[in-house]
Formats: sequence, C-alpha cells, structure tokens
Amino acid sequence: MCGIIGFTGNCDAKEVLIYGLKTLEYRGYDSAGIAFFADGKIKTVKTVGKVDILADKVATEVFDATECGIGHTRWATHGGVTEVNSHPHTAGRVTLIHNGIIENYQKLQEELEKQGRKPVSQTDTEIAALVFDSIYNGDPYETIRKGCEKLEGAYGFCIMFADRPGEIYAIRNGSPLVATLSDKGAVIASDMVALIKYSKDYFVLPEHMIAKLTKDAVEVTDLKGNEVKPEMLHVNWDIAAARKGGYDYFMLKEIHEQPQAISKTISPRIKDGMPDFTSDGIDDSLFKDLSRIIIVGCGTAMHAGLVGRELIEKFARIQVNVEIASEFRYADPILDEKTLVIAISQSGETADTKAAIEIAKKSGSKTLSIVNVKGSSIARESDYVLYTHAGPEIAVASTKAYTVQLSAMYLLAFKLGYINGKLSKEAVKGLVSCLRKVPSDLEQILKYDKQIETISNILTKAEDLFFIGRGLDYTLSCEGSLKLKEISYIHSEAYAAGELKHGTISLITDNIPVIAIATQKHVIQKTISNVKECRSRGANVILITNEGESVDPALCDHQITIPKMDDRFAPFSVAVIVQYLAYYTSVHRGLNVDQPRNLAKSVTVE
Ligand code: AGP
Repeated sequence: MCGIIGFTGNCDAKEVLIYGLKTLEYRGYDSAGIAFFADGKIKTVKTVGKVDILADKVATEVFDATECGIGHTRWATHGGVTEVNSHPHTAGRVTLIHNGIIENYQKLQEELEKQGRKPVSQTDTEIAALVFDSIYNGDPYETIRKGCEKLEGAYGFCIMFADRPGEIYAIRNGSPLVATLSDKGAVIASDMVALIKYSKDYFVLPEHMIAKLTKDAVEVTDLKGNEVKPEMLHVNWDIAAARKGGYDYFMLKEIHEQPQAISKTISPRIKDGMPDFTSDGIDDSLFKDLSRIIIVGCGTAMHAGLVGRELIEKFARIQVNVEIASEFRYADPILDEKTLVIAISQSGETADTKAAIEIAKKSGSKTLSIVNVKGSSIARESDYVLYTHAGPEIAVASTKAYTVQLSAMYLLAFKLGYINGKLSKEAVKGLVSCLRKVPSDLEQILKYDKQIETISNILTKAEDLFFIGRGLDYTLSCEGSLKLKEISYIHSEAYAAGELKHGTISLITDNIPVIAIATQKHVIQKTISNVKECRSRGANVILITNEGESVDPALCDHQITIPKMDDRFAPFSVAVIVQYLAYYTSVHRGLNVDQPRNLAKSVTVE
C-alpha cells in the first residue's frame, strides 16, 4: 500500500522525507516522490522505482534548504507505473499525496474537463487535486471540507497550498494517518515506523477531521471547525525494532522474534494460571450465550482463524465459521446478537476486514478484533480489541503476527471452553501451562534453520508443489502454501490430504514436491497413506511429523520432526518450519524476500 510522510519543522525537510519513505518501503510500492517549499514555491521530484533513486535525483538538483514538504511511495491502483502517475500531484495551487481509491473519479473528471481542467496523469489522485484547486479560495479548511464532499471512496491526503508555505493539511477516510509534534517539528505518516525516530507518542488522525501541521503545532478540527483533542497513544517498541538488527531480511528477524512476541502477547492475559482479558476491558459476559462465532480475515490472518476454529470447536464446542473477509462483506451474512464476530488483522487496516466488522456491528453482533497495531482502524471500529504484542512487522510475509494471533486464539478457546462449562479449571490450567511452554519450544525449532535451508534446495527449481495435511495440519498447510508462494513465486496449493484423490492427485507426477504435515496423532496414519499415494506417483516428499513417529525411510526424501509434545500445540512449531522453508526457498531463488513483487504489507483498498 502507498506510504505517506509529511514534515514541517526546523530542519531540512528533504532529508526527513527521504528517511521517512525509506522506513515505509516495506509497505510495497513501485514509484516515489517528494514535494517541498523552496524559494517560496512548491518543487516536486519524483521517479519510478526505489526511494534510493529518488534520493539521488534530489541530491543532483540544487535546492535551498526547505522546512516543509510531503513524500509518497505509490502502489499503483489507477494508472500504470510511470513518473507522471507517481505522487505528489499538483493542480494549480494545490499539491497533494494520497493513499486510497477515489471511486467516482471518472465522473469528477468529466465535470472538471468541462471547466477546462484536464489531468495530465491517469490517476484518481490528480482528479482529487483538481477538485480541491477548483474550490480553493484561500481557505484550506473550506476547500478540504467542500472537496471531500465530492469524493467517494477511501483516502488519506496530505495537502500543501502554494500560498501557505510551512503548512501541511491532512484528512482521512479509511486510509490510516498518524501524527506527532516533536522538537524537530510536526510529522505525519501512514504508520508509526516513520514517526518513531521523532517520538514514541502519537495520535491517529480521526476520520473526517482536518489536521493542520506547522512547525510549532498540530491542530485538529472537525468539519465544523471545532477543535478536537485526539487520544494520544504510546508505542512500547523502539527504533531498533523497526530495523533489521543484523539479519539479512526483516522476515528472518521476525521469524526469530516469535518466542518473545508470543510471550509478550500471552503473559498479560494469564492470571493464576487462567486466561484473563480484564486488562483488555473484555468481560467474561462476552463469551456467554453465544450460538455461533464467525472469524473473519484475509490471507495469513484468515489462516490463523482456521486454527482458531479447530481450537474453539474442540475446547468449547461452539460452532465456528471462518470467512474470507472479501467474500463475507458481499455475502449478506446471517448475523444476530448471539453471534460473536472475531476479526483478525495484523495491520488493523485491511479494507475488506474493516468492512466485515462494520457489517457485523450493523447486524447487532458483538465484535472482537485481534490486531497488532494500536489505534488502527479495525481496532477502533470493534467493540472489543485484543492487541497482540509482536512489535512492528515489516516483512510483507507475515510470520510473528501469525503466531501471536494463534496464541490469542488458544487463550480465547480456553476461556470459551471454561465459561461454557466444557473445560474444568484444572483442564484449563493444564492447557495454559502448555501454551506458556511454546516460546521455549520454538527456541528449539529455530535451531532447525540450517537443516531446513538444505532441504529447501529441492524446492528451488520447482514450478508447482503441494502442501497436504488433515485437521490442524491442513490449516498449517494453507499457511505454509501462502508463505511459500508469496515470496518464492512458486505455484503452491494446500490440500486436505484426504481430498487429493478426488481429482488433484492427477497432478502428482515425477519429482513434484509434496510437503506433508502429519503431527495430529488421531489422523497421522491416514495422512501417511496419502503420502504413500503421492510417493507411488513419483512425488518428492518432505514430511513434517513428530519425533519418534515410526516412518518408513523410503516414504520421503526428507523428514523434519518436531519434539514430542501435546499435538494440539504443534501448529506453532510447524509454523516456524514452513516459514523457514519459504524463506530459504526465496533466498535461493535470489528474490527480494521482504518486498515480494505486486504485494503490499497492508491492503487498505478493496
Ligand atoms: C501474509 O503473509 C500476507 N502478507 C497477507 O496475506 C496478509 O496476511 C493479509 O493481507 C492480511 O493482512 P492483515 O493481517 O494486516 O489484515
């Protein structure tokens, strides 16, 4: 998704903007640009490609120092990847950057062209700039208020007006914007990683409110001009957490951070050996008299929901449906006040998941979100929030966010089981103590890196491969398959092992890799039979199973075993193994592990 940075203060804005855009690279983008006041005018420098190219361009052109500017990394939605389409966009006296989609831009363009205002790019963003310029009469507030009335869709804008040097205005509808005032000046950005250098205290710009940034102040007003004091938030991580820390890629660093991330997420929610969400403001009454639970999310977050379903149905005997958010929001779902809707989202900004929560609330269902970013849109939209404490997740491929989401699902399943009389206090305490051991279990699995790096060699040249498993192993197959394909670009499919013979096994031919996950004791032998079916058709098999499981060595090319444990907690260990497999396959294929092609870290548009 696009990255936004704005700064006005008492140091060279160009440096602040370029630095800020570098920290936002992880969001995924294909072009970049900055605009700033210099010699009393707004200058713009932009480029296709990386921020480093932009920095070189800025360095070669001689500009006076400037103290106010805006910067943008563009993830193309409307219009190709060209310099003309990159942001910032200028229309007359208005220069702006935008994250989101203006859905009625064609209709607006027709109206503007009748006024002789023709865009030079193919973007919806330039249309917004033309709209604002067509209104601007010297009053930014009135311009923004009237302009936004014409716009339909999601937006986060930072706007500069040519006759107001030193001032930046911002407004959002859906797309995230956070801001702070520091001793260097006022900073606004798409997310905290760009602000943390200046302050750990920040606020989320409330939707449909206008922020005015000057070097000494950040003023927020509603559309009627009333001053608003947004809630100040504080991040509990530091700038080092947002840097690579000596690892080759953020993804590897974040894989290694999982034990600590899980510990930080579960510890505040365990009191006297029992799950306790009091500190989250979640009362036990939320978990009573439920007829159904719906878990909604996208991608990896949805896969965490698949594990959650297995756990809640196993421990609490409550029916759970897992829904893909982009399907759920248009499916006219059956919801009522006895349905609890749980949204899972690392960024808390995924447009489809946010829309799902809004639909659930309108239907009278209670909503609980499991989110990693404090103050994010989904968190603010939900009745209750369970924040995970993974710290900033920079790599596009989600790893530590996934396992902390799992840890939250385990605690919720134990709580639901106990509240609904399906689990005794002793049983819950036993399960909680297993969960508390997971961080140390993972410290052991993290030592598998060299073994898995070697094994991943058989995947490097693959064009197609399959993950198979049953029950919890199938849910991990889904996550392993997504991890692998999104960063290695190998076509991968996850299949319920028992389903293969209903058609797909026709694709199992000589040397096609099959990664079989078989940790769930009650179905291991069934999965082993499916592995034999694949093996007999020439598949190369990587088998992930439990230590001590007697497996015919001829059955697989490689066997990865996890230490003996309660198999209900195997998902955490298997998660690290499939993350490693994906990571090393991508590295061996010479790809950009952290910023895979076409992908964004947070999909804030539909
Ligand atoms: C996972 O590796 C992907 N980056 C992607 O599937 C991601 O999980 C999905 O877009 C949901 O994002 P969210 O958790 O921020 O809502």
